[in-house]
Amino acid sequence: MQNGMMLVAMDTHIIVLGNEKGGSGKSTAAMHIIVALLKSGYRVGAIDLDHRQKSLTRYLSNREECNERIKMDLTFPVMRIVSPSQIDSRAQSQMAEKDAFQKALLSLADCHFVVIDCPGANTYLSRLAHAHADTILTPMNDSFVDFDLLARLDPETGDIVEPSVYSEIVWEARKQRALSGVKQGVDWVVMRNRLSSTKANNQKQVGNKLDDLSERIGFRIARGLGERVIYRELFPSGLTLLDLGGPESPIKLKTMSHLTARLEIRSLVVMLKLPSFDLESGQKINDKDTVAA
Ligand SMILES: Nc1ncnc2c1ncn2[C@@H]1O[C@H](COP(=O)(O)OP(=O)(O)OP(=O)(O)O)[C@@H](O)[C@H]1O
Ligand SMILES: [Mg+2]
Repeated sequence: MQNGMMLVAMDTHIIVLGNEKGGSGKSTAAMHIIVALLKSGYRVGAIDLDHRQKSLTRYLSNREECNERIKMDLTFPVMRIVSPSQIDSRAQSQMAEKDAFQKALLSLADCHFVVIDCPGANTYLSRLAHAHADTILTPMNDSFVDFDLLARLDPETGDIVEPSVYSEIVWEARKQRALSGVKQGVDWVVMRNRLSSTKANNQKQVGNKLDDLSERIGFRIARGLGERVIYRELFPSGLTLLDLGGPESPIKLKTMSHLTARLEIRSLVVMLKLPSFDLESGQKINDKDTVAA
């Protein structure tokens, strides 16, 4: 396919974690989804497009180090990093980035799923990833500051005035996909992250506005993840909630909060309604069968 940005067509299901807002939980969610899919037996590719922070890459190298040290028999995705081009000319640098991105995707063509972690910024590589997505997952913190990247609200009435910057990126990605002839649309899921257990008024207000917006611009809302220290604690060990609990695990699932967190991750994966594949043939089973957690 030669239209616009879309250059690669394959059966692999591509999941893009995106939101221009920094620190909304993209890398944390990416890592948990990768491990959930690996644990279901799938071959998973991972592309880190955040060349400055490299959080996903570092999460995975911490995982390798932990695996060596504790002999945990952890599973790993096939990892690729695509860095921005250093060429001055914009046109040439975009061509080089497209080429590098395409090569990375093609090298993962035997994976059932490719999970792409985008930086918290509007970059060409990030737009390219969105244009290739089958599923876009957008974590957002429960605040009107984060909501502002999805839509502008009238300051007096609180009504939605128009979609804003990040929604436009998804809109453009959907357009590119339709132009390139892919029949199935992009499934866009917005996930609320770091929800507090006390039902604050602000939380309800953001929830109501998201409900309105989801119908207007076409995304699904996932219940999301609570605010839990365990997410921050897991990064140095490279582990996810789905790895904990075994006798050799250096971090135990000690509290109700940990168990609830694990359930939240499982329901997120179910909510994504990802296609399931026959592990032998690599064929999609059918559209109705989705990955269970
Ligand atoms: N549900 C949660 N509860 C508590 N802490 C969380 C939660 N989700 C993410 N965090 C923490 O918030 C910080 C930002 O998360 P993360 O790195 O996943 O966001 P990001 O969207 O990838 O950020 P960036 O845009 O900078 O790449 C990290 O320290 C992470 O451990
Ligand atoms: Mg990140």
